Amino acid sequence: MSKAFISVEGLTRRFPEPSGKAELTVFEDLWFGVEEGEFACVIGHSGCGKSTILNILAGLDAPTAGHIIAAGKHVQGPSLDRAVIFQGHALMPWLSALGNVELAVSSRHPGWSRAQIRAHAMKYLALVHLDGSELKKPAQLSGGMRQRVGIARALAIEPRMLLMDEPFSALDALTRGSLQDEVIAIRNATRQTVFMITHDVDEALLLADKILLMTNGPKAWVAEIVANTLPKERTRAELHKQPNYYPLRNHLIDFLVTRSRALALDPEARPSNRNPPVIRPTAAPPHAATSHHPQSAGQAPAPHLASARIAATQAAG
Ligand SMILES: Nc1ncnc2c1ncn2[C@@H]1O[C@H](COP(=O)(O)OP(=O)(O)OP(=O)(O)O)[C@@H](O)[C@H]1O
Ligand SMILES: [Mg+2]
Repeated sequence: MSKAFISVEGLTRRFPEPSGKAELTVFEDLWFGVEEGEFACVIGHSGCGKSTILNILAGLDAPTAGHIIAAGKHVQGPSLDRAVIFQGHALMPWLSALGNVELAVSSRHPGWSRAQIRAHAMKYLALVHLDGSELKKPAQLSGGMRQRVGIARALAIEPRMLLMDEPFSALDALTRGSLQDEVIAIRNATRQTVFMITHDVDEALLLADKILLMTNGPKAWVAEIVANTLPKERTRAELHKQPNYYPLRNHLIDFLVTRSRALALDPEARPSNRNPPVIRPTAAPPHAATSHHPQSAGQAPAPHLASARIAATQAAG
C-alpha cells in the first residue's frame, strides 16, 4: 500500500513533569494518514494532545519517538510547504495587515520585486475581503479581521498543507460562519491538504472529509476515524436537513460525552492494530429501523465500539 500524503508513524510525545522526576506521556504510538487534497479534522477533549500533534506536523516541536512523513519528506523543522493558522493569529503587531502578508510572501519568494510581493499579498487580502483595510495594524482590526489576515498570510505562501489549530474558536458565530465559508471556497479552488483542530462538531461536519476522534489523555490515542457521509457539496444552512447529519452528529457527541473518557480508562480498549477503524455513520435504512444494526457501512467496528455505536443509532432515532 502506498503511503498517505501525511503519514503519522508511531508518534509518541512525552514531556518531563515539573518535578523533573516523572514524565507525562501525552500520546504513544499514534498511526494515521491524511491523503493529498483531504480535509482532516481532529476532535478531542482539552489536553489530549491535539496541538502537540499539529506542532510536530508543523515542525515546531519534535516527537519523543516515531515520525511524520509529509509530501514524501521526514518532518524535521518548519517548511513553507506547511502553513499554520494559529488560534491567536500571531501577527506582527508593528506591521500593517499588508506588511504581515508581505513578510510571508517575501520569505517564500526572496527573488521577487517589491511590486510583485505587494500585488501577490493584495490578491490574498482581497480573497478574505480585507482590501481597503490593508494599511491597518492588528490593534486597529477586529478579532475576525485579524484572523482573516492570519488566513491570508498562510494562503499567500501557497502551501501544500494547511495546518489550523482552532482557527475560529475565539470568534462570534456570525464571523465564524463567514470565515468557514471563505475557507470552503478557497479550499475548493486550491484543493490543499488540510489538518485542522476544532472543538466544534458542526464545524467539523461542514468542513472535513474525515474526523479523527482522540480519547482523553494521558496516553491518548486515535480511537476511530469518522468518514463524513454528508454530500460533498454542503452548506451550513442545509447541513441539518441531510439524512446522515444526526447519525454523524450523535456519534461525535456520544464520543465526546462518554466514550472518549471511558476508552481512556480502559486499558484493554486500545486495539493492537495500527490503523484506527474507519466508521461511516449513516441513517439506518427504513427496514432496519427496529434492528440493532451498526451504523458503519465500511469496516466492521472494533468490538469495544459496537455497543456505543448501536446506542448512538438508537439515540439518532
Ligand atoms: N511544552 C510543554 N511542556 C510540558 N507539557 C506540555 C507542553 N506542551 C503541552 N504539554 C502538555 O501536553 C498535554 C497536551 O497538550 P496540548 O496543548 O497538545 O493539548 P490540546 O489537545 O491541544 O488541548 P486544548 O484543546 O486545550 O488546546 C497537556 O497535558 C499539556 O500540559
Ligand atoms: Mg490545543
